[in-house]
Amino acid sequence: MPRPGQPDIYRTRARAEGYVARAVYKLKEVDEKYHLFQPGQRVLDLGCSPGSWLQYIVSRTGPKGLVVGVDVNPLAIPVAPPLYFVPGEVTSLDLEIITAISPVFDVVVSDLAPKTTGMRQVDQQRSLELAFLAWDWARKLLREGGHFLVKVFEGPDTPTLTAVLKAGFNLCRHVKPAGSRPASREIYLLGLKKRSAPSGARASQSGPRPR
Ligand SMILES: C[S@@+](CC[C@H](N)C(=O)[O-])C[C@H]1O[C@@H](n2cnc3c(N)ncnc32)[C@H](O)[C@@H]1O
Repeated sequence: MPRPGQPDIYRTRARAEGYVARAVYKLKEVDEKYHLFQPGQRVLDLGCSPGSWLQYIVSRTGPKGLVVGVDVNPLAIPVAPPLYFVPGEVTSLDLEIITAISPVFDVVVSDLAPKTTGMRQVDQQRSLELAFLAWDWARKLLREGGHFLVKVFEGPDTPTLTAVLKAGFNLCRHVKPAGSRPASREIYLLGLKKRSAPSGARASQSGPRPR
């Protein structure tokens, strides 16, 4: 974490490399280690504004890929196929708006973050609710064998989400990328290779709800 007055190396680097946010380096680090993205893939990015993850994902999936971003806030990058932007609240967005663009995705990522209040428990709870919402979307839209990356502010209820991902994926990892500010409570949960849903188990797959 840079001291006041000191430059943030990730911010400086993002500016120099043409990314609209320093957040890109967190995703890049996870991708370099776990190989999330391949050319031609369909990717859904929840909480995508201002758009640095989208910039990176489009560069990895290429012209034959398809990338859909969702956010309440506008993007700071141009939008043209293979990139699509759906403005709106993830809490109330119609699934059909997304499935009209692509009925299924190879990777779902979520950098959704609540407006922080400074009250740690409240912020953790809101972040966990957003992470579970992202999982609900991934549960419905991610193909079998697909990957899911989700941000959450770590707290006493994080294991409820971990348990759900462990049940839903062949491999589950907690990741704290170097680009994530050390003082921040954020971590990323990664589910690799989504398992097929056992028949009749759809409702229980969303797992325990945060308190
Ligand atoms: C950390 S920023 C994402 C940064 C992005 N990954 C990037 O690289 O540019 C988190 C985003 O989550 C969005 N967000 C938070 N709650 C949301 C909600 N309920 N519905 C849609 N977007 C939401 C915010 O508007 C914000 O743009």
